[in-house]
Amino acid sequence: MKAIIYRDNGDPDVLRLVDRDLPTPGPGEVRVRIAVSGINPTDWKARSGATGSKQFPEVTPHLDGAGTIDAVGEGVDRSRVGQRVWLFLAAAGRPTGTAAEFTVVPAERAVPLPDEAGFDIGASLGVPALTAHRALTVDEDGPRRLRPGALDGKVVLAAGGAGAVGHAVIQLARWAGATVISTISGPEKARLATAAGAHHVINYREGDPAAEIREIAPDGVDIVAEVALGANLALDMAVLRTRGTISTYGNDGGKPVELDAMRAMVLNTRFQFVVLYTVGSEALAAATQDVDAAVRGGALPVGEEHGLPLVRFPLARTADAHRAVESGAVGKVLVDLTS
Ligand SMILES: NC(=O)c1ccc[n+]([C@@H]2O[C@H](COP(=O)([O-])OP(=O)(O)OC[C@H]3O[C@@H](n4cnc5c(N)ncnc54)[C@H](OP(=O)(O)O)[C@@H]3O)[C@@H](O)[C@H]2O)c1
Repeated sequence: MKAIIYRDNGDPDVLRLVDRDLPTPGPGEVRVRIAVSGINPTDWKARSGATGSKQFPEVTPHLDGAGTIDAVGEGVDRSRVGQRVWLFLAAAGRPTGTAAEFTVVPAERAVPLPDEAGFDIGASLGVPALTAHRALTVDEDGPRRLRPGALDGKVVLAAGGAGAVGHAVIQLARWAGATVISTISGPEKARLATAAGAHHVINYREGDPAAEIREIAPDGVDIVAEVALGANLALDMAVLRTRGTISTYGNDGGKPVELDAMRAMVLNTRFQFVVLYTVGSEALAAATQDVDAAVRGGALPVGEEHGLPLVRFPLARTADAHRAVESGAVGKVLVDLTS
């Protein structure tokens, strides 16, 4: 089979297209013929070494993907052969991700994909949707599970709603009944966040975004899903309601975080830092079940018309796909295994 590998951390040129033997699923595992591999910033950060040195002599990158189960290991229901699935955390703690014609994952990391959802949707779910689910389910006064109505009456602020995670935050929050406000950096991203389902979009780079958000939500925002904590903490604190939650999954821009501790105390603010790798099996299981329900409800579409443009590359150009993600491509970067 064809696979992308790297043997050293470094720039995208370390990625090579090679032939490898077909992997065999072990006990509790499934083998998936990959149709589409999804790339997230964590994939290029792992490749570059920014998040630590690689753990295996040879790594096939990418956590997310979608395809069809073609073999199962001992202890896995044989009727799963032929099942369309979306994968999450495929390369987490393992050397073989989804940038290959076939990969092997623990059976629970291959979630059935309903017939009405294409592989593009499946390959776009993992990191963004599971991260968004976590961000939306850690509020003290809010639900631990998402379903229609779970966030009724709540106001969610999706920072950077034209990003992949921001997009999933908007879609899941909207599906669950929240009023969704998204910050964006300009008209094109405003169009995307609106297409994703945001009720209100606010340009964080001009005017008085805090006053604009307060006008929409006079009592404050219940949950902020934050992509750039250092840059936005002052804004978040200015619009947060008492006992509100700031869920941080990124610090894009790398600005140091300066906390007004007194204001945070007065508001009884809850900070929740989110990293998918260590979120725990219970939270992951809850998130996959709720995301599955949202997919079945048609709530997580992708594509420009739904606020997430798709940027595609063939497997042989995975290095270019990494460059695109690294340089901040707008939308979701996908690698096609069937072209
Ligand atoms: N902790 C986790 O488990 C986890 C999971 C997923 C992602 N992440 C991290 O989260 C970050 C985003 O991932 P992604 O896949 O969503 O990337 P992405 O698709 O590139 O989106 C990032 C978005 O953030 C926006 N942004 C940047 N600075 C901003 C600011 N100051 N205020 C508001 N928006 C801002 C960008 O738009 P503008 O620059 O135009 O505003 C862009 O739309 C990455 O650093 C990634 O590594 C972490």
